[in-house]
Amino acid sequence: MIGVFDSGLGGLTALKELHRLTPGEELIYFGDTGRVPYGTKSAGIITKFALQDAAFLISQGVDAILVACGTVSTTALPVLRDRFAVPIIGVVEPAARAAAAATENGRIGIIGTTATIRSGAFERAVRSVSPDAELISQDCPLFVPLVESGFVGRDCSIARLACEHYLARLRQSGIDTLILGCTHYPLLAPIIAELLPGVRLINTGEAAADALVALLGRFQ
Ligand code: DGL
Repeated sequence: MIGVFDSGLGGLTALKELHRLTPGEELIYFGDTGRVPYGTKSAGIITKFALQDAAFLISQGVDAILVACGTVSTTALPVLRDRFAVPIIGVVEPAARAAAAATENGRIGIIGTTATIRSGAFERAVRSVSPDAELISQDCPLFVPLVESGFVGRDCSIARLACEHYLARLRQSGIDTLILGCTHYPLLAPIIAELLPGVRLINTGEAAADALVALLGRFQ
């Protein structure tokens, strides 16, 4: 059984891909909707929540964990790996590899929660596979509350305003690839794609699910 967790519903983007790749596998999902958002909190609080989330999944008998949360992956992954013996995969390295493979002009954007961008983890991971990449990062603190409140979809004017606000700099930057560094962000992808035409969007949850299945050799 594979356990998947996130601060809320964003990690379902990873769960969907995991289910597509391993339809017979038993999956358990924990979304911490009582305490979302994580990305505006301190590293200490995020780590405490992440340890509790993972402990809950372990208590259910999982034999691997997918951390379907950019914020936890960038902030608390080493602590989780130290504490629990099962394989634990986060979203950072898989997304960084996917972005490095996708870019043609070497200009990669990274959007994520404030904690994620503060950590610099995506930047380090991309540079480790693509040292010459030019990186432009932006935190988007309103995106998670918007998605959790159902403000999604191409016709949602509030979501569109927030996207226009946060993506303004990236739209001028010449990036050809954008890492959606938070698993909630694919729900805003229709608007993001319209504002950044021709830019490849990297879905971190999907990339991490692919990496976990490859690691466990459980393709079905
Ligand atoms: N889906 C989480 C992430 O990938 C959202 C974090 C939050 O709750 O702010 O970062």
